Amino acid sequence: MTSETPEPAGESTTPYEQFGGEAFFEGLVHGFYERVARDPILRPMYPDEDLSAAERRLRMFLMQYWGGPQTYSEERGHPRLRMRHMDFSIDSVARDRWLSLMHDAVADMDMAPEAESQLWMYLVSAAFAMQNVPDDPIGQPLPTTQT
Ligand code: HEM
Repeated sequence: MTSETPEPAGESTTPYEQFGGEAFFEGLVHGFYERVARDPILRPMYPDEDLSAAERRLRMFLMQYWGGPQTYSEERGHPRLRMRHMDFSIDSVARDRWLSLMHDAVADMDMAPEAESQLWMYLVSAAFAMQNVPDDPIGQPLPTTQT
């Protein structure tokens, strides 16, 4: 390559590659599910006794989202993630626990700061979008939920 045609540094690569490819997503999602397995709020929400299939689905989804292989959609079709979460009651407590475990899993990956904030901002907004049990607006139990 001559000096007149320099490669633009990093611009042609996907976030998938910048984050570290499949090994990165394997590490991140495995670290997350190790925490889910020990979590008293989240663990009971997962129907399968073995979490490895759920781990694989999240890994494939995130790899696809960030520009990697499209295996998730080949196997599962359109993500429709909000719809796929409707069987689970996700309130703000479950949402925040999911984010807290994911935050620790992200921290373990020692990412470059800019990549880390790009990933984290997405995860926060995705987790908020997945909440399907609304908070009470005045912070008290609604009359119908009082016993
Ligand atoms: C907000 C808190 C969340 C909770 C409590 C939650 C819980 C669950 C549960 C219980 C499942 C079923 C496990 C299985 O696949 O067998 C699931 C599936 C899944 N979740 Fe979440 N989730 C949350 C947020 C998210 C977010 C933010 C994402 C994406 C960034 C995500 C991506 C997925 C994917 C890809 C699947 C598999 C969907 C499929 O193909 O069937 N989840 N989640």
